[in-house]
Amino acid sequence: MDILQAIQERHSVRVYKDQPIEEEKRAKLQDLAEACNAESGLHIFIRFDDPEGFDSRMAHYGSFRNVKNYIVLAGPEGKDIEEDCGYYGEKLVLEAQMMGLNTCWVALTFNKKMVKKLIPDGEQLCMVIALGYGENQGTAHKGKSLDELMATKGSMPDWFRKGAEAAMLAPTAVNQQKFKMGIKDGEPVIRISGKGFYTKTDLGIVKYHFEAASGRKVQ
Ligand SMILES: Cc1cc2nc3c(=O)[nH]c(=O)nc-3n(C[C@H](O)[C@H](O)[C@H](O)COP(=O)(O)O)c2cc1C
Repeated sequence: MDILQAIQERHSVRVYKDQPIEEEKRAKLQDLAEACNAESGLHIFIRFDDPEGFDSRMAHYGSFRNVKNYIVLAGPEGKDIEEDCGYYGEKLVLEAQMMGLNTCWVALTFNKKMVKKLIPDGEQLCMVIALGYGENQGTAHKGKSLDELMATKGSMPDWFRKGAEAAMLAPTAVNQQKFKMGIKDGEPVIRISGKGFYTKTDLGIVKYHFEAASGRKVQ
């Protein structure tokens, strides 16, 4: 599966099978997390076979069931890490999808108290991403139209359309899609539009989708 297919086929999955993730896939994801950390200064790490992050004995963690693996997105305290967590987290999400795994971004409905214990002093927790073999592949959700998400009008180069279509498929908190895309001086620009929850993390996620599909760096 290539990255464009991964972008199209990815949907949030909240119920997982017991099937453990193979060693080879673990190593590949961990290597990618380390490469992301080296590039960004974040501290992204993956917990395998650790159900406590979603404490499945307690019913109140949303609609999540049987989450045994998760990606922790953390970084230095006092720094605005949200957009970077979105960008690099989504890089891991799409890599996982290409490996046949499923994911779901989780800002609220996880066991924050347990996960916070894993974060070293001097670091802050951003959020987590559930990971594993899904009981299903999730479902496609209706989002905003390309027109609604555009800040500028006029003709659209091919590369821009490809990027924009991938950005439209990016996961955002409560599917809010609070962003607008445009072209400035021939370069793609994406900005937060309006108030919402976790819009900075959403922005990083959306930018990664756009870049992966268009091959252009987003401002
Ligand atoms: C930043 C962020 C935070 C999210 N937090 C939660 C959460 O706490 N609980 C949850 O069930 N889903 C959460 N989601 C998943 C979104 O609800 C989901 O991505 C959105 O509805 C779009 O669906 P899709 O991912 O299947 O395309 C979050 C997604 C993002 C991007």
